[in-house]
Amino acid sequence: MLYTRIVFVALSLFFATLSAKSGNNTENPYLVKKNAATQLMVNGKPFLMLGGELGNSSASSLDDINRIFPKLEKMGLNTVLVPACWELIEKEEGKYDYSIIDGAIDQARKNNLKIIFLWFGSWKNSMSCYAPLWIKENSKKYPRAVTKSGKPLEMMSAFSESNLNVDKRVFSHFLNHLAEYDKKDQTVIMIQVENEIGMLEDAREYGKIADQRFNSEVPGKFIEYLKKNKKSLQPSLLKKWEANGFKTKGSWSEIFGEGLDTDELFMAYVYAEYVQQVAKGGKEKYNIPMYLNTALNSRGRKPGAYPSAGPLAHLLDVWRFAAPSIDILAPDIYDPGFANWCKQYHNNGNPLFIPEIRLEEANAARVFYAFGEHDAMGFSPFSIEDVADPENYPLTKSYSILHQLYPILTEKQGLGKTNGVLFDNESRERTIERNNYRFIFKHDNTLGWSPKAKDGSIWPEVGALIIELSPTEYIVAGTGVVLSFETLDNKKKAGIGYIDKIKIEDGKIVPVRRLNGDQSHQGRHLRIPVGEWDIQYVKLYEY
Ligand code: DGJ
Repeated sequence: MLYTRIVFVALSLFFATLSAKSGNNTENPYLVKKNAATQLMVNGKPFLMLGGELGNSSASSLDDINRIFPKLEKMGLNTVLVPACWELIEKEEGKYDYSIIDGAIDQARKNNLKIIFLWFGSWKNSMSCYAPLWIKENSKKYPRAVTKSGKPLEMMSAFSESNLNVDKRVFSHFLNHLAEYDKKDQTVIMIQVENEIGMLEDAREYGKIADQRFNSEVPGKFIEYLKKNKKSLQPSLLKKWEANGFKTKGSWSEIFGEGLDTDELFMAYVYAEYVQQVAKGGKEKYNIPMYLNTALNSRGRKPGAYPSAGPLAHLLDVWRFAAPSIDILAPDIYDPGFANWCKQYHNNGNPLFIPEIRLEEANAARVFYAFGEHDAMGFSPFSIEDVADPENYPLTKSYSILHQLYPILTEKQGLGKTNGVLFDNESRERTIERNNYRFIFKHDNTLGWSPKAKDGSIWPEVGALIIELSPTEYIVAGTGVVLSFETLDNKKKAGIGYIDKIKIEDGKIVPVRRLNGDQSHQGRHLRIPVGEWDIQYVKLYEY
């Protein structure tokens, strides 16, 4: 078949180019820019993370790890995000214990999984609860953050050299260990540095050093960055700078105005500098990609009331400037507005990686949107081990489709050849234009063919992605959508040449069966009903 040949030739060329470029398999995992996309290269090949994150206390015993990992493989995960807890690695100062880390790596290898370790170091969700007891008990040497009213918080101060140095020391040791234990295999593909950093109660730390820094001049190099990137700055930052006359010299309040927003901006700068030092030290030992995750302010609260100054969307400029060793700033999505969060983080060269999302069945639809619309690098629901029936879980079905599409998707990433759609009760239709065609995607329930579509039930979230193979050939994969076609120039009508249900084996498209008659509404549409998952190929023509 023509399309089989086209895809096969394209894929062979693509992999040939890649292996020529990336050499052997002993390099570290690394990131490459491919036009608008960023790809994670593992063992010399682009890697899409079909992931899941373990609950916080699910990897603190080897028994748990050994019990959970086989279940993850059954779900079709290729990546698991695993806490690396400082308090367990360095129970006694200067004595390191990597038994759980190594056990997780061994178990991942047995179950065809890659690992991202989450460094629960100085901060885990704002707090310093993962610092070992010898740190917690010695707040004289390892000081706490203090509020405006002088109240100490269970948070290590970001202004303390000894805090920074101790985190840097153990993190570097950890990365050195990973290099020794795993560099050859590349089971560990990325590291998250700290977890959901963010100041609480106040928007910034107070105290002698914090106040001094706050009242001193904004670093000139940051102002230079703002000037150079003025056109692409986050709108809220630009507005604050503009409101103060685009000043280029002065304290934080003089340049950005007084108030909680400026307190937060300053604190973000300080956190970013701290994290930069930790990450840089780690990369000197083992240079693999690193990212940060973010607690989002989805309820519109004021700085201090939400974990403030982390890599929130409105602070991305500060983080990208002051923490250049961090490769990706990533959203943890626990609240509505999935598509909007994706857009905010797939921004200005920051690739979309979703390290955490609430464990919900709707993720089975969202994952298609993330990969199709935003060239996502990975997707990972939180507390993934809680899935009761891994084989029949909706996301398992989506991951199975994405596994098949993997070589085609990685080839197309960054080339503008894919889109994703996501529908629910409120958003039921979207039109996409490509070549001479208008693709009218709708929620399958808009057909009104299922009783559930009419009885007032909440429509489930459904989603799909479309891949352009040639101007008249497309792959559509997902769940719960219906798609019809029009021409853009209106000179002729768009017709469905034929539709095949397909599977993809080793990057080759293999037709499974022709879908016609009732399945295409006698040639009117392509359909994947609600509750079903499919990959279909459509050849269009004009009459
Ligand atoms: C976000 C954090 O990053 C996770 O570690 C976990 O605490 C979840 N929130 C929710 O429980």
